[in-house]
Amino acid sequence: METQRQATLNAARQAGFRNVSLLNEPTAAAIAYGGVIDQQCTVMVFDFGGGTLDITIMKVEGREEYRMLTTDGNMYLGGEDFDNEIVQYFLEDIEKKTGHNLSEDNKARALLKLVAEQAKIALSNDIPRYHETVYSLEALFGIQYEAELTKETFQGMFQGLLKKILEPVKGALEATQLTVKDIDRVILVGGSSKLPAVKSTLEKFFGRSNVVCADANPDEAIAHGAAIQSYRLNNGQPSNFQEVTAYPYGIEVLHRNWLWRTTRIAELIPRGQPYPYKTTECFETAYDNQTAVTFQIYQSKRGFHVDKFRIGLFTIPNLPKRMKGECQFELTYDIDRNNILHATTQGRNNIADYKKNLDIQLDNIA
Ligand SMILES: Nc1ncnc2c1ncn2[C@@H]1O[C@H](COP(=O)(O)OP(=O)(O)OP(=O)(O)O)[C@@H](O)[C@H]1O
Ligand SMILES: [Mg+2]
Repeated sequence: METQRQATLNAARQAGFRNVSLLNEPTAAAIAYGGVIDQQCTVMVFDFGGGTLDITIMKVEGREEYRMLTTDGNMYLGGEDFDNEIVQYFLEDIEKKTGHNLSEDNKARALLKLVAEQAKIALSNDIPRYHETVYSLEALFGIQYEAELTKETFQGMFQGLLKKILEPVKGALEATQLTVKDIDRVILVGGSSKLPAVKSTLEKFFGRSNVVCADANPDEAIAHGAAIQSYRLNNGQPSNFQEVTAYPYGIEVLHRNWLWRTTRIAELIPRGQPYPYKTTECFETAYDNQTAVTFQIYQSKRGFHVDKFRIGLFTIPNLPKRMKGECQFELTYDIDRNNILHATTQGRNNIADYKKNLDIQLDNIA
């Protein structure tokens, strides 16, 4: 996300680093697997974390060139959803064994979620059965409960979630017009990719058992790749990255139809746009004597006709007073090589000497 990238850059600069450049997580992961994958290949990076799933398809040429073709994902799918399924199982089990229904109790759910995550991690390592006395339930609710989960039950629990992980995989293939045969390797990244069912689901989908690379530790692949890249930079070894935007950028503008005024999103930068990238659009004031225009910046997960989320705003200040529409200016949106957004404006016609770098105020992330 824009805010996180900006915060990362600021933190690095404050810590005294000079020449900071950001590397995308999937590119870093592909670099980490450089010794394992072929010199020329197409890889899919499958990054499955606690709350999000990110899919990236990338062309790798030798050790130096990494070209992102597309990125897709689900911002609302991650390890936590697996924990929640297990919590649901425990709640039903508690009701069956003790007669207590705790499903509406948030405290109980939170306690069980911790147990669920432990059970998930234990069972995804090679143990046949998870068994734990949940003392906290006894202390808080006076309920004695032995949480038990066998590997067999565990493996059968996630059919719905496992189907969902394939949706962005298919989306990314469609966007690049590639088929499963064109993907040479799938690189697993992120804690949730350690679930054996995730690996087997992908192997089944791709129709090959050797397609998945999970040789290195998926938790460390990104940091490992970034370390290799900084070694290369320090030793003057050239590299060539082409990365693309994960979400489109747009601004909210007034839109007049024959009856009324509404707002709409003007998309300035599409999803999948290679960057650095610059684009310019022309706008005009909407009212007489309007001296400032504030634009809200939005991104979208599924396209602006479906959804949008605000990432910040900027204002074009001190415009000369003119009748509406007579004050025209060009707005240039610029994504730099760190995937950070900048905006500048330049007046047109009668205000051609008006020129400004605009200060983008990003919203805080939750
Ligand atoms: N051995 C394991 N088996 C299954 N799941 C695991 C294992 N180890 C960690 N996880 C899960 O991985 C998730 C955390 O992964 P990761 O550290 O990659 O997430 P993140 O990068 O913090 O989150 P995100 O990428 O979604 O923002 C948690 O849901 C955790 O329960
Ligand atoms: Mg992550």
